[in-house]
Amino acid sequence: MKRMIVAPSMLSADFSCLKKDIDLVNANADIIHLDIMDGVFVPNISYGTPVVKTICKFARIPVEAHLMIVEPQKFFADYKSYGVSSISVHYEACNHLDRTVNQIKELGMKAGVAINPHTGVGLLEDIVKVADYILVMSVNPGFGGQKYIPYSTKKIAELKKIINQNNPNCLIEVDGGVTVENIGEIARAGADIVVAGSAVFSAPDAAEAIRKLQSAV
Ligand code: DX5
Ligand code: ZN
Repeated sequence: MKRMIVAPSMLSADFSCLKKDIDLVNANADIIHLDIMDGVFVPNISYGTPVVKTICKFARIPVEAHLMIVEPQKFFADYKSYGVSSISVHYEACNHLDRTVNQIKELGMKAGVAINPHTGVGLLEDIVKVADYILVMSVNPGFGGQKYIPYSTKKIAELKKIINQNNPNCLIEVDGGVTVENIGEIARAGADIVVAGSAVFSAPDAAEAIRKLQSAV
């Protein structure tokens, strides 16, 4: 039976004991999700290269980087050398998105296209033919712990149709406000991967929270 791929966001991890939370994710989840923010594309700064490098060093499962930054291409080669296996860039941050997606793929990584809540999925009809996954932001990017925007579910379902028509191999990842309460509707709409920050790291039992999210079909 198909199960949900779960990618905990390290933005909500305990940075005073980062290794402990990396190990927890290694042992229980499918992907480690890194949120990179530059204070320009989004109104917040998260963490940068030294932290990415350290997390990659201790990762035992694939690491994906979600680049909420302008000029993301500056970092592709370095991230590849640290061991990052997939990178998503924002549709709204790239003037030459097709070129940028191909640059990620040429380095041997999976390429994702992230879209902000206001960006319509109809714009993705062509890029889904090239991208490995589309990351649907279900909150306005910049902060963990926000509430899921209800209209995201309809967007996921519409995107699923576009993907089925144009490139069924392209996956859908949903990021922002995902909880054990709303994972059912997100899964039914067509998501393959979910990112979860606070739902994992604020849960009394993080491993159990990951298992509950994974079992959504
Ligand atoms: C927001 C980030 C998300 C976020 C997820 O800009 O892209 O990955 O940290 O955190 P939660 O699950 O708490 O919304
Ligand atoms: Zn993210």
